[in-house]
Amino acid sequence: MSQEFDVVVIGGGPAGYVAAIRASQLGLKTACCESQPYADPKGEPRLGGTCLNVGCIPSKALLHSSELYDQANHSFVMHGIKTEGVSIDVPTMIKRKDNIVTQLVTGIKGLFKKYKVTFLPGHGSFLADDNGTWRVKIGEEEVRAKHVIIATGSSPRHLPGIPVDQKLIVDNVGALDIADVPKKLGVIGAGVIGLEMGSVWKRLGSEVTVLEAMPDFLAAADSAVAKEAWKIFTTKQGMKISLGIKLKEVTAKKNSVVVKYETEEGEQTQEFDKLIVAVGRVPNTDGLNANAIGLQLDERGRVKVDEHCSTNLRNVWAVGDVVPGPMLAHKGMEEGVMVAEVIAGQAGHINYDTIPWVIYTHPEIAWVGKTEQELKAANVPFKEGKIPFLANGRALSQGDSTGFVKVLAHAETDTILGVHIIGTNASELIAEAVTAMEFAASSEDIARISHAHPTLSEVMHEAMLAVEKRSLHF
Ligand code: FAD
Ligand code: NAI
Repeated sequence: MSQEFDVVVIGGGPAGYVAAIRASQLGLKTACCESQPYADPKGEPRLGGTCLNVGCIPSKALLHSSELYDQANHSFVMHGIKTEGVSIDVPTMIKRKDNIVTQLVTGIKGLFKKYKVTFLPGHGSFLADDNGTWRVKIGEEEVRAKHVIIATGSSPRHLPGIPVDQKLIVDNVGALDIADVPKKLGVIGAGVIGLEMGSVWKRLGSEVTVLEAMPDFLAAADSAVAKEAWKIFTTKQGMKISLGIKLKEVTAKKNSVVVKYETEEGEQTQEFDKLIVAVGRVPNTDGLNANAIGLQLDERGRVKVDEHCSTNLRNVWAVGDVVPGPMLAHKGMEEGVMVAEVIAGQAGHINYDTIPWVIYTHPEIAWVGKTEQELKAANVPFKEGKIPFLANGRALSQGDSTGFVKVLAHAETDTILGVHIIGTNASELIAEAVTAMEFAASSEDIARISHAHPTLSEVMHEAMLAVEKRSLHF
């Protein structure tokens, strides 16, 4: 007799495991399946998805380690701290990252126990709709569920003719496990992964060249932020970034990779010790048996959903990277919570307009809401308040004062429409802007709130004051 559940979640990443926990909290009998072992020593399927295993968490661990190394080499001296013979032990750095991942994925297993979610290791796929109950195959077993939530996530996009072997040519998985600092590192794609992983290895001593197909740098960010980031990453930090390139040929040799590409100046050839391919991600829908059950996908292979993440099939939902929208862990988690609540008969809520973006380079880049170019294109009248970190006592005392906070507010109503930060701790500072926008605050609302002194949050405060040209410290 097959097990019966109210909810079966396919995929144990942030969208899936959060949906499962919330559904169980709401009294629904819930199971979650996962097929990937990632780096599990016993080869057993591991919870946590891309984010915990080969994405957000391991990349941030390496970014932090490499940032400390960079500081020891370049910033300690200004504090009067003398360091000699600083060196990097890459295997220890990688091991630390692996330990953090293990700790977190074990934690998710613990959360499943605490919230009584059944973990079903194995690949999940649809069999059929049996009079309002879904028959789902998980591994070799069949289970039955009233509701199924597809949370199968995404995988790195590979390019034809570029054989990713995770040794010489790596995607995000191999990029997190490079054992020695490559002398010359090539990165294809100046997106989020390209910039974050490029930063890690640049700080550790690689000569990094990033090859980007688009003519604009960081086109999704506010143009002022993108301009500042370009200046910092290229001129100050020495990353080589070529825009508008066209890849011609990639050849893996024994110990190097030769990349031929075209720029405005003609054909170029570079030889790298390692090549990271980071050109976006594709949704995971293969193996779900989507065709047989009539699940609708869009032109990019993502599961089609409505505003409540409901698919075209009754009681089948989809959340996270496998549906349209930004491929961000927190967006997937919010969708997971919303779907669980809708299934439980609650309203469910997500506000796609206030989902923050963060790029964890140094300085960090974070934004929420509309960019200046988006407001101009939509003919929305706006006012701007922009304050550099250089005008902030805390940033100066930390010796980290590059960048700025830029606030865009409606010219007539003063409602905050977008906040854009490039600077230290931008990832944490953006939370205030998200809260403000979620409550439809005006720039004056935030300008009238007391911000502790001396803190970096005062840059946000001053930028809100600057919208009405009344900043006090700039
Ligand atoms: P995933 O995390 O991809 O999880 C889906 C899971 O489903 C996978 O484990 C997969 O094995 C499993 N699965 C698939 N098909 C089946 C099946 N048929 N049966 C059983 N299991 C199945 N986002 C951020 O917000 N912040 C960051 O800092 C950040 N950093 C990142 C860094 C890197 C290097 C990468 C690659 C991504 C990063 N992301 C970040 C993006 C983030 O990882 C994803 O948005 C997030 O993991 C998506 O969650 P998900 O649950 O939808 O999918
Ligand atoms: P991306 O979409 O951010 O960037 C890919 C880049 O590759 C683009 O700039 C694109 O123009 C370029 N590109 C595509 N084809 C190319 C080609 N043939 N030659 C040269 N350049 C080419 O994708 P990325 O960096 O792979 O990351 C995937 C996703 O993972 C991100 O979009 C984001 O959603 C998520 N992520 C989030 C992070 C965060 O929140 N901090 C960190 C890392 C990833």
